[in-house]
Amino acid sequence: MKKLIVLSAAAIAIAACCNQPKFDGPVYLNPNAPVEERVEDALSRMTMEEKVGMTTAQSKFSSRGVPRLGIPEVWHTDGPHGIRPEVLWDDWDQAGWTNDSCTAFPALINLAATWDKEMSLLYGRSIGEEARYRKKDILLGPGINICRTPLNGRNFEYMGEDPYLAGKMVVPYVKGVQENGVAACVKHYAVNNQEFQRTQSNSVVDDRTLYEIYLPAFKAAVVEGDAWAIMGSYNLYNGQFNCHNKRLLCDILKGEWGFDGVVVSDWGGCRVSEEAVKYGLDIEMGTWTNGLRGAASDSYRNYHMADPYIKGLREGRYTTEELDDKARRILRTIFRTSMRPEPNYGRFVCPEHYQAAREISAAGVVLLKNEDNVLPLNVPEGGKIVLVGENVVKKMVVGGGSSNLKTAYEVNPLEGIRNAFGDKAQIVWERGYVGDIGRSYNRVDTGQDLTDNRSPKELIASAVEAAKDADYVIFIGGLNKSAHQDNESTDRYDTFLPYAQEDVINALAEVADKFVVVNISGSPVSMPWADKADAIVQGWYGGTESGNALADVLTGKVNPSGRLPFSIPFKYEDGPIKTEAQYPGIKEEDDQYWQTHYSEGVYVGYRWYDSKDVPVQWPFGHGLSYTTFEYSNAKASKPVMKKGGTIKVSVDVTNTGDVDGAEIVQLYIADPQASIDRPAKELKGFEKVYLKAGQTAQVTFEIAEDALSWFDAEKHAWVAEPGEFQALFAASSKDVRAMASFELK
Ligand code: BGC
Repeated sequence: MKKLIVLSAAAIAIAACCNQPKFDGPVYLNPNAPVEERVEDALSRMTMEEKVGMTTAQSKFSSRGVPRLGIPEVWHTDGPHGIRPEVLWDDWDQAGWTNDSCTAFPALINLAATWDKEMSLLYGRSIGEEARYRKKDILLGPGINICRTPLNGRNFEYMGEDPYLAGKMVVPYVKGVQENGVAACVKHYAVNNQEFQRTQSNSVVDDRTLYEIYLPAFKAAVVEGDAWAIMGSYNLYNGQFNCHNKRLLCDILKGEWGFDGVVVSDWGGCRVSEEAVKYGLDIEMGTWTNGLRGAASDSYRNYHMADPYIKGLREGRYTTEELDDKARRILRTIFRTSMRPEPNYGRFVCPEHYQAAREISAAGVVLLKNEDNVLPLNVPEGGKIVLVGENVVKKMVVGGGSSNLKTAYEVNPLEGIRNAFGDKAQIVWERGYVGDIGRSYNRVDTGQDLTDNRSPKELIASAVEAAKDADYVIFIGGLNKSAHQDNESTDRYDTFLPYAQEDVINALAEVADKFVVVNISGSPVSMPWADKADAIVQGWYGGTESGNALADVLTGKVNPSGRLPFSIPFKYEDGPIKTEAQYPGIKEEDDQYWQTHYSEGVYVGYRWYDSKDVPVQWPFGHGLSYTTFEYSNAKASKPVMKKGGTIKVSVDVTNTGDVDGAEIVQLYIADPQASIDRPAKELKGFEKVYLKAGQTAQVTFEIAEDALSWFDAEKHAWVAEPGEFQALFAASSKDVRAMASFELK
């Protein structure tokens, strides 16, 4: 029987091969030849200068191909929330094309808050299609740096504070993008967790912390997701810039993890020619921001890896081996993307992508508090809803740095809520405060004039007046993407709401009958006013469909199932970062760079708050639903797990409320008998389960040794120590609902 199956498989293979037209040209042009054969064939035809040529940019977002051989140039694009508008050949400003307004997908922190791997696949597929349609080969994203400090300006572009969550969420994104023949360029590798002095700061991290907290998501992207590209980060690690960091790129990425794709520098991140050649960089981008404009001739030739590389090769300082390795990786990328077999052409700004953006965004909205079930909105026919705040109307896709997008459209919360109610309720908007009236970024303009010359007092008085007879008052504020908020290249100053927002909230709370606060941000915002609101919702930068997605949750069309991907502290000082040396780092007189000491070790986010018993305002993993869930019957499939084996742990979850909904069941593992200091518990599994009202489901997780291990830096190995382990089934890191213990022997 076995033989028969083998035979028929062989027959299919022969048939398939006979159906293919005979290919007369060179192997590298044959789309059906194996990639490695194509790579070797192309490489054998290239001159040294052509190989070096491929390793550098030729414009702001493209690197060279081999024109003589018909090997196309490589087109890069930001990333990670949509396809950036075309820019001028040599500038960050948009070029003013009229066919490049994209679908803006939700910020990655919004995706992480869904805790839903299917949403991540949908996201990856959709953005991959948009990239393909726009003829892009490398998508500069996703970003997966850990939220080490709530102040990091780029937290919104990343996937939260936990390496397991980020690792599980990044893999489907990468796969979805790459299905389209577009390389996902996972960024920013690695230990790049602040924007302050981002190109001048050296992250000082011990090995255990590096391997347990800062590398796992990157490893998952490479090993499980098979990512084809990685972007080195601006900062240094071990005193060496990360775009050519021997340890990170040669030893770990290409060595331990066997990465066979390309390492792309962050724009301007390549700093030293010799290191760039020798320590793992494959494509150098953005080194001179003025590129061609600032020079009479092609100044891209002056990049670290362009003419200086050729000179070094001619002088015998560099070897062909390193060069061939880089050329192979770049060719491989081209044969995987623009010259791949069976090209598809993608699609752009289509109803399916709008729908995906809306679904993902809504699935990530987190209901933090809901006293007396004030939500979903229950407004009498003809009732009045007063919306207060700048973020009710502010278009949020424009701004924030390189993730800035030009969208086909963007639905703000005012439009979203009006769409939901039609003429069934009166929807009134009050400004409340003036925050940021900026409207354009890299010449992309929102078209919104948000100028308002009223004084803070007048604005509050007007909002309070309107709120007095409202059925619901909904304050929609938070952060935006201007400097020192959720914004690349600057960090925040503190964790509180900027502008006069707290005054507005306090004033509204005095008069509102039902008072809801929606905080839109990409990083944790402390909420000292939380007791004054009946309900609090954490919304995000939701992209094109932001306002509709928020309305879906507020009205109950979507039952919220988003969970926090980071902890929200009462105040910054409660967190693990206590000294300047930890953040923002220190620069002694004789230091060339800032030194940022990650001395809190593995105690990042909930690992700190839970282990040190520090209360938080809203814990990691927290989020409510319009229904309730009960956990029962936690058990392990056997009492003992043998070394090298696996064990199953399960729990029953029941929807005990009146409406259908989804619960995110979180599995944390505790190692009470560890011989070393370990966090009180660590996330090692999560599953989203949809349950009809009254329905029960069993949720099962398979645990292998990696879920029980810590990284022993001395042995350079993961270690699972024999003894008791606890499987904690939880609704958040601080809300453990059931437990099953087992022993590792
Ligand atoms: C950012 C990257 C981005 C690149 C290209 C850099 O400044 O750090 O995330 O992909 O610019 O825009």
